Formats: sequence, C-alpha cells, structure tokens
Amino acid sequence: MKVKLINKLPKENVILLRKIGKLADTFGVEAYIVGGVVRDIFLGRHNLDIDILVEKDAIGFAKFVSAKLKAKLVKYPKFLTATIILPKGKKIDFATARREVYLMPGALPLVTPGAIQEDLARRDFTINALAVKINNNSFGELFDYFSSVKDIKNKNVRVLHDLSFIDDPTRIFRAVRFAKRFDFQIEKHTQALIKNALKKKAFLSIKPQRMWNELRLILNEPKPKKYILELSKYDLNFINRGLKFNRESQKLFDEIDLILNQHKKYEEIYGSVDSAIIYFIALVSYLKEDTLKKIAWKFSINNRYRKSLFFYKGIDRKKIHRELFGKRIKPSTIFKNLNRFNLEILLLLKAASVDRAVRNKIDRFLKEYQYVKTSLTGNDLKKAGVAPGKKFKDVLDQVLYEKLDGKLKSRREELVLVDKIAKKL
Ligand code: CTP
Repeated sequence: MKVKLINKLPKENVILLRKIGKLADTFGVEAYIVGGVVRDIFLGRHNLDIDILVEKDAIGFAKFVSAKLKAKLVKYPKFLTATIILPKGKKIDFATARREVYLMPGALPLVTPGAIQEDLARRDFTINALAVKINNNSFGELFDYFSSVKDIKNKNVRVLHDLSFIDDPTRIFRAVRFAKRFDFQIEKHTQALIKNALKKKAFLSIKPQRMWNELRLILNEPKPKKYILELSKYDLNFINRGLKFNRESQKLFDEIDLILNQHKKYEEIYGSVDSAIIYFIALVSYLKEDTLKKIAWKFSINNRYRKSLFFYKGIDRKKIHRELFGKRIKPSTIFKNLNRFNLEILLLLKAASVDRAVRNKIDRFLKEYQYVKTSLTGNDLKKAGVAPGKKFKDVLDQVLYEKLDGKLKSRREELVLVDKIAKKL
C-alpha cells in the first residue's frame, strides 16, 4: 500500500528516487521527498519536481549523489541546499532539514539543521507539509505529522501555526494561489489570521518585490480572475491604496481568458505571450498615471512590464477605435494603427475592444498584414537617388502601404513607385 502512493509519480522519477534512496543508505542519511510534489500525488496532478529533504547534510549527500550519477553539482552553503543537474538536464534539489527562527517578522529566518518534523512544521500550509521517505527499507513511507491528508481530502488550506503570516506575509498570496488552483477553501481560522496580519500591516516588514513576485505568480495562473477576487475579499489596499477589482476589470479578465485561449492555437506562428503582463495591465491601467508610476517604483517592476504598462496607458484607444471601426478600412490604416504594439498589447487591445469589427481588424493584422514586406533593398533606393537616413524609411513605408492596399503586384511596380516618390523628394 505504502509503495503505491509514490508509484503514482512518473516511472523515470520513481526509478531515480529508488537509486537516490539506496545511495542515502550508503551515505548514512535519511532522505525524503517533500512539499508540492507529495501534495500533488494526492491531488492526482502532474508534478515533475524532485525536492529531496535530507536530515543533517544535504550538501554532502548531493555531492555523493552527483558523483555516482555523473551529475553537475551546485552548492548553496548559505541555505544548506544544493542542486544537481543530471547529464540529460534534469534538476534535483537537495535541502537540509532545518529549524527556523524568525528574529523579526518578515526578516529572513535564522536557519540551523533540524529534524524532518521541525522542517515540515516551519512550512506554510499543512497541504505542503507531507514527506515520503525514500531510503530503501522504507521506500514510499508517508509521514503525515499535521493531518495534511485530512486537509487535502477536506480541501482546506490551513496554516501550521498562528504566526505564519506575520513571519512571512507572502504566504497570504500563496494561500489564495493554492486555494484557487485546487478549488480548496482557506480554512476559517487561517482566514482570520490573514485579516489579522493585514490589520497589523505585515507587508511593511518585507521587500515590496517579494509581494510583487507573488502577485505575478497569481497572474500567471490560468484564468486568474477568481484569484484576484479572493484577494479582494481582504481588500486590495495592501497592494495599492485605491486598487479595486471592479466589474469592468473582472469583465476584462474574462475577455482576456477567451482571447488567450484563442491565441493558443496560433502561438507557434505569432509567438508566446507572458499572460501575467496582460492581466497585470488589465488590473491596474485604469489608475492614474502618477499612481502607476508609484506602483512601478515601489515594486521595482521589471522593464518589460513597465514599458508595456505605460505604453498601453498612453494609447488613445478611442482614436484607434474610431480609425478601425467600420467596413471599408484600408489595410494600411490598420497597419499604421497597430504596427507599433507588441503582441501582449495587441491581445489586450483586442480583449478590451467590445466591438467585433475592431477585433476582426486586429486579427487581420496579426494573421496577415504584419507579415507583408516589400521586395526593396537599400540599393534599390540608392539607385533611385534616395539619400540614406530618415527619407529611406519614409519611402519604404509609402511603398509598403501601397502594397498592403493591393496597389502593387510586382517588384517592378514597387520600383516604379520608388522612382516616382524619389523624383518628388
Ligand atoms: N514555503 C513556505 N513559505 C513560503 C514559500 C515556500 O513554507 N513563503 C515552503 C512550502 O512548504 C513549499 C516549499 O517551501 O511546499 C517549496 O516552495 P514552492 O516551490 O514555492 O512550493 P510548491 O508547493 O512546490 O509550489 P508550486 O506547486 O507552485 O511549485
């Protein structure tokens, strides 16, 4: 029975874990798989991570395993952890079971080696505090010190101790993320602890970037509306004073879900998108530019997000709507309006546009117009007497627009037009 549970992991991982378990015997340590991967076995969810918890000396053991399996070893002595990378690229993390003491709320804890139970007790939620032993004699034995299996069965996200959110307020986001991802509820007392931590402004004790990382993880989940709604139950003020997840934003999130779903089919052609950027902009872009600047500064939001956010904020969407609305819009007009946007912004514009005709234009641009090129080279322009520089681009653009509008059918016609334009310069 006990072996069955671990056998639900992919076969190659089971074989690997058996090997590592035997090596643990030889090396003389107790080794376990822990955390998300064990939780996900119970939930029947695919999880390829291998996180090994070792009593006493994870780094020494990782070194031993890496030598036996011809793997690369990376050590993190400060954290008592190590990673090995197998010849085919698979990574396995090793951590020393530890005891943690939080000297100050929010500060990184003081870490010393401890027993497995102590290591599990310092974790965020009971559902993440299961361990399965992998030493040969006890391969597959489950250690459930905190009724984790019961909580998984009852679909409860429950903290392991009352100071959990004070010690580490990012766990508030994690509680929401796990609850919504698995369709669980945050257990009542845990909810009260979240409210209490927020009342005590627990987030002031951590670097805002840590909050931002958690928000991004939430926005990276598929269909994040329900996650943000759950966070809103506690009020979003702790992210930014004045931030609301109103009906309009919720509707936009729904539209983005649909658009991203359609986009999946075309991903290979148009490229993949960072969906978190799109949902992030949808969440905050109605706020005033000054407030957005404060948010970007406070959370040290990275350049890609920052650029897209302010770019989107600066778009005159009414103007675009006016120009793209209607039936007989020239392809070059569509191109001129949309060519300056990246894919994420295009998809967001599409989601934000309730008008079918405008959406169709964005699709046409994505499917067709963005790929239209002229056959001209720099030499062609030089020969026609166009001086390199800004004029070059102007001429090329003019030819491209004519081509988009179907007025040029061959390279010869393109060259004739270049001559004509050059004469007027
Ligand atoms: N952990 C914690 N407090 C945090 C972050 C992590 O106690 N603020 C613990 C959790 O017990 C978790 C483990 O560290 O199981 C590993 O963290 P992570 O990889 O983020 O968690 P997973 O459960 O593997 O999450 P995911 O399924 O999203 O990968």
